[in-house]
Amino acid sequence: MEKNIIVAMTRRRVIGCHGALPWHIPEDLRLFRTLTSGHTVIMGRTTFESIGRPLPERHNLVVSRTLMPCSGIVVCPSLIAAMEQARRLQRDLFFIGGREIYRQALPLADRLLISWIEQDYAGDCFFPLLDLSLWKQEWSREYPAFTHVGYRRRSAKEVA
Ligand SMILES: NC(=O)c1ccc[n+]([C@@H]2O[C@H](COP(=O)([O-])OP(=O)(O)OC[C@H]3O[C@@H](n4cnc5c(N)ncnc54)[C@H](OP(=O)(O)O)[C@@H]3O)[C@@H](O)[C@H]2O)c1
Repeated sequence: MEKNIIVAMTRRRVIGCHGALPWHIPEDLRLFRTLTSGHTVIMGRTTFESIGRPLPERHNLVVSRTLMPCSGIVVCPSLIAAMEQARRLQRDLFFIGGREIYRQALPLADRLLISWIEQDYAGDCFFPLLDLSLWKQEWSREYPAFTHVGYRRRSAKEVA
């Protein structure tokens, strides 16, 4: 099971503002849908509430200690429990945020899919500090408002 982090962030690592995305970039949302459809997504309770509904055509796993069960999602009491559930579903796994989930998933992920937003939006929520020397760039594609870059974690041998 490939473990991916998928995130849109500015070059200063802003990912959110007042509990929502600071931007509206339909092309990035379309890309997110294409890449994650048919797979499993893991998100934090706050991100789930800001989306407001389960994402269609994906297995939605929501990590929370407080959320009541509801239709269209599986509530998991920990990130480890969510990953075990994802393993049983036998699809690729995408950690889709927010900050708390990215922080815990960063040491576990095989790949990073980053939409680098070119405009410098203000925000109050940041992606964790990222040491890109630990990651190998696999591809990069430019769009008008962002550059989409795929990275794969370097092996211990490559880092040494
Ligand atoms: N730019 C992007 O690509 C992107 C993507 C997604 C989200 N975002 C932004 O990120 C922000 C939200 O991030 P956030 O850090 O506030 O919230 P979050 O990570 O979405 O959710 C945090 C909540 O998840 C639950 N949780 C996290 N880790 C857990 C664990 N190990 N065990 C059990 N429960 C756990 C807790 O819920 P309970 O309190 O219910 O226990 C916690 O309060 C928003 O601004 C959103 O717009 C940006």
